[in-house]
Amino acid sequence: MDAKTAHGLPISYFREISTWLQSSILKQDELLELIINSATRMMAAKASSLLLLDEKSNKLFFKVATGEKGSAVRQFQINVGEGIVGYVAQTGEPLLIPDVSLDPRWDKRISEHTGFKTRSIACVPMKVDDRVIGVVELIDKENGTSFTQEDIKMLLSIADLASRAIHNAREIDHFKRENKDLKEELSSKYKIVGDSKSIQTVIFDALKVANSKTTTLILGESGTGKELLARLIHQSGHRKTMPLIVLNCAALPETLLEDELFGHEKGSYTGAIGKKVGKFELADDGTIFLDEIAEMSPGMQAKLLRVLQEGVFYRIGGTEPITVDVRIIAATNRDLPKEIAKEKFREDLFYRLNVVQLQMPPLRDRREDIPLLAKYFLDMFKVETGLPNLVISKDAMDKMMKYNWPGNVRELRNAIERAVVMGNRHEIMPEDLPIGAHEMEQPGLEFGLTLKDALDKFKKEFVKINLDHTGGNRSKAAKVMDIQRTYLSRLISQYNL
Ligand SMILES: Nc1ncnc2c1ncn2[C@@H]1O[C@H](COP(=O)(O)OP(=O)(O)OP(=O)(O)O)[C@@H](O)[C@H]1O
Ligand SMILES: [Mg+2]
Repeated sequence: MDAKTAHGLPISYFREISTWLQSSILKQDELLELIINSATRMMAAKASSLLLLDEKSNKLFFKVATGEKGSAVRQFQINVGEGIVGYVAQTGEPLLIPDVSLDPRWDKRISEHTGFKTRSIACVPMKVDDRVIGVVELIDKENGTSFTQEDIKMLLSIADLASRAIHNAREIDHFKRENKDLKEELSSKYKIVGDSKSIQTVIFDALKVANSKTTTLILGESGTGKELLARLIHQSGHRKTMPLIVLNCAALPETLLEDELFGHEKGSYTGAIGKKVGKFELADDGTIFLDEIAEMSPGMQAKLLRVLQEGVFYRIGGTEPITVDVRIIAATNRDLPKEIAKEKFREDLFYRLNVVQLQMPPLRDRREDIPLLAKYFLDMFKVETGLPNLVISKDAMDKMMKYNWPGNVRELRNAIERAVVMGNRHEIMPEDLPIGAHEMEQPGLEFGLTLKDALDKFKKEFVKINLDHTGGNRSKAAKVMDIQRTYLSRLISQYNL
């Protein structure tokens, strides 16, 4: 054997692990697997495992399990206090057992299930700041002898390295999330601008529900600020330090949506390599925002309803009921009563979600907010483009005041952005605004056109609006218009969009 560290670890081994720890290519799971595998070899053990503690359920889950029965072992979960690993997790003290058959703590369940005969075990806790986060165990020496105190000592320093790897990964995750939240807070992105009575009433009502857990349904046309309002509700309540998880129900097919919402257990279907925590769980103690709720398939609606009724759910392939404390906010630009009449949306789900209903007013019904919003967006883009003296001409403002804004605030924002970039850099002129004050309002509705030409004009604008509002996403736009994607593609090339 070569030179050793203070903990009795061979230096070469220590170096090897240090390189792995510094490697940015290895994923956490691969890293742990490497560490445990080489510990197994170094101490000439027949098998080994690393289990992590889930504080919520107070159970230990196998993260790594080597040896011939590794994969069979992995499906087990162990309660803290149960068996040898459970004992070590509970006490935080290492345990050396020369012969398990003589130890009352030995839980035969796993070895009977896998048919792996176990004799000797060395088991140590993994700790971060004196808190147990998991356990590492070695099972049986290759040569049939028992583990020694020397082995325990080495295993302790290996567990320490593994803990550090996990702790670092968790810190990085946490840091990334915190940093992102901070950035979002700092940007004034979430300010709801508007002095009109209608928008002020909505904000007032939103603040009233913010501190409760009441399920809230936000309705309103596309681009009216539904997502903004959902963020305001979350930010204004005592859940604001916890995550706001956004799920766009229109963006995913049913199976993926279910997986996103509820997560899955390892191996629950082909491709489910690891356990996945769903958005419902991620939103625990926080808020989940179910956007475009009307686009949810009937099957998914039924599943969501069941969760709302029973207050528990299961990960896909899981048997353990999971309860979470989540505030639900849902939004749609669809007319839900109409969707219910067409049997596209479940009435019972509607009532579950519609505890408090907030209606975002369309921009054309609160024209007094247009100057304020235009100024707000101008200030925003002015800074970005370095044009501090840019103003909006009176004619341009008149044009905006008269326009119908089918795309609401989003359309206004885009119009200003374009005008800032494309204009003369001093004053925004009417022609800089990508809005046709009359024609755009009701395309095709003019005297002197054939019916076909009028329909073509309408269809072109209609497709354009839908593409604009879905960020150019054809599948989504087709879904909103309730037409085939292939038909949409044909329209796009027909009208040169
Ligand atoms: N009152 C407002 N003040 C400032 N910005 C706003 C306001 N309303 C909307 N916006 C901005 O307009 C854009 C669209 O808003 P948001 O995404 O919240 O709309 P939405 O109702 O969710 O639309 P969709 O139904 O298309 O998803 C965003 O950039 C948002 O910041
Ligand atoms: Mg939205």
